[in-house]
Amino acid sequence: MSALVDTAYQKCIHPDCGATFDVGQVLTACPSCGSLLDLQYDWDRLPVPGALREFEARWMNRRNPLDFSGVWRFRDLLPFAKDEQIVTIGEGQTILQQSDPVGKYVGMNAGNLHLQYEGLNPSGSFKDNGMTAAATHARMVGAQIAACASTGNTSASLAIYASTTRLFKVVVFVGSGKIAYGKLSQALDYDARTLQIQGDFDDALARVREVSGEKGIYLCNSVNPFRLEGQKSIMYRVLEALAWEPPDWIVVPGGNLGNSSAFGKAFAELKQLGLITKIPRLAVINAAGANTLYQLYDQQGLRWNDGRPDAAAIKSFYDDMTEQRRRASTLASAIEINRPVNFEKCLRALDNCDGIVREVGDQEILDAKAQVGAGGFGCEPASAASVAGAKLLREQGTIAPSDRVVCILTGHQLKDPTATVAYHSADEELFAEKLGSRGVTVATFANRPVVVENDLQKIVAALGG
Ligand code: F0G
Repeated sequence: MSALVDTAYQKCIHPDCGATFDVGQVLTACPSCGSLLDLQYDWDRLPVPGALREFEARWMNRRNPLDFSGVWRFRDLLPFAKDEQIVTIGEGQTILQQSDPVGKYVGMNAGNLHLQYEGLNPSGSFKDNGMTAAATHARMVGAQIAACASTGNTSASLAIYASTTRLFKVVVFVGSGKIAYGKLSQALDYDARTLQIQGDFDDALARVREVSGEKGIYLCNSVNPFRLEGQKSIMYRVLEALAWEPPDWIVVPGGNLGNSSAFGKAFAELKQLGLITKIPRLAVINAAGANTLYQLYDQQGLRWNDGRPDAAAIKSFYDDMTEQRRRASTLASAIEINRPVNFEKCLRALDNCDGIVREVGDQEILDAKAQVGAGGFGCEPASAASVAGAKLLREQGTIAPSDRVVCILTGHQLKDPTATVAYHSADEELFAEKLGSRGVTVATFANRPVVVENDLQKIVAALGG
């Protein structure tokens, strides 16, 4: 019997190519034309549930690690591996929380804003949803060494899968000085070989792609089509939490554009399979200092165009960027990316989901982050771009106060304590160095720590009324 399922295959997304490859091949681009690859399935030959609520039966079977996993309990919707090949560490136990305090800040009616906390994953970010799928494929093909470039979360995620499963060794490429301390500490603590490249994420990704190709190392960035299959499950869990009733809007930060691409694919497949009737609208939010998607999609009107987006316009945008030496720059370091590798797939997702793209500044991001902390479980800066984006879309009248909105909070609050402390503390030097230098002028919602002498009377006085 083959070690591979024969109902899944990889396919080039370019309509003029459409080359296919079996799931045993390790590819991060189409060998014929260079476009991105997708996983495709022969759904007619697969046991797809008749309704999404049938997945609820899996809740009864939580001692099976595959049914415990918030990714693999939906494995019928990403059926590229046999059960015994699946690598899981209990990812995807995340929460959709309705938040009226944050909803009020955004301008929503009570009950209508939901926050999807992907920071509750084992490594503290949404990346575990994808990494469990990439690790599964790595095991299927017998990979010995896996690698990624990262703004910090992908590396933490890959490192935790390697440290807990010991299936492969790991090397991670990060931009020197470009990743938040919480994330760097994870890669080091999980014992990943960590290369600090003297450059930014875009440089690190270019180098790791070269090295992986040359050395036959298994690449775990989101150009790996298996990873994005896992990230579809974030949408399945959102639907599950909303009793399988799609919301009106999904709002997500955009960096390398893996999430938005995966969400679009998830909804297109669910619709094709007759499991949903309505597709939510997708809003992808760039940081203003890393806004390639916003520039090309919103400002220049570039579209998917049935798989043939204007390649000349894209090339000329990047040529200008190179010529002017424009580098991504935002405090939301997770999304400090100027050359998003999933750009075309994201255009497809925006097409599928009647999508829109907005940009928000670091000031808006940090204020929204403080509101998520004060009215929810907290998140890292990049994640708060979703809330800042929802607020902007309310102000613009695009989102109505009565819409049902889900903001994806991609990473845990403790990933980037430096930004949080600089925002809240009364230390002017720290504020100026960490935030002021990036154009943040005021900590609108600062919760200042109070310094008090070690004296009972003074402490009581400091407590105030
Ligand atoms: N939010 C967080 C917390 C992230 O870490 C990332 C990406 C994004 C949003 C953007 O998601 O790439 O799917 O559009 N972080 C990558 C990394 C690039 O290396 O950890 P995307």
